Amino acid sequence: MANIGRRNFVKRLWAALGIIAGAELLIAFSGFFSAKRKPLTSDSQKLVEAGKVSDFQMNSVFPFRSGKFFLVRLSDGGFMAVSLKCTHLGCSVIWNDEKKTFVCPCHASSFDQVGQVISPPAPRALDTYPVIIGEGKVMVDITKSVRRKQFESSQVTYA
Ligand code: FES
Repeated sequence: MANIGRRNFVKRLWAALGIIAGAELLIAFSGFFSAKRKPLTSDSQKLVEAGKVSDFQMNSVFPFRSGKFFLVRLSDGGFMAVSLKCTHLGCSVIWNDEKKTFVCPCHASSFDQVGQVISPPAPRALDTYPVIIGEGKVMVDITKSVRRKQFESSQVTYA
């Protein structure tokens, strides 16, 4: 009889330990998923407000070093946000307004106004960031750099 009582006690102990382990797993999973959500909140704070549409002259390039991009306003009024990170080894390109080209000071790659390679060793066009235009303002989402091989008209955003 005492043997059966001990067996029941051990069964109940294992059941209790199983419940505790299950609860810990549940807490661990909920922590994992809430940790995943936090960066999205901070990501949404990385929308850079560049300025009003009317602030940017046509056929011009405006550096946003803190946002790590150049805002390009094309001659047809479209906007692009071109990454300043060279696609060769990652140096920061600079804009040469006279020549209307981006130039990399490290190994002399150059890119045209829309970021296409003019001269290597850069293997592909400069990355871009999505441009969002709303209520007359230009915003750039710096959380999503877009890797591309070359320029396509779909990469341009219009007001
Ligand atoms: S890092 Fe730009 S050309 Fe090498």
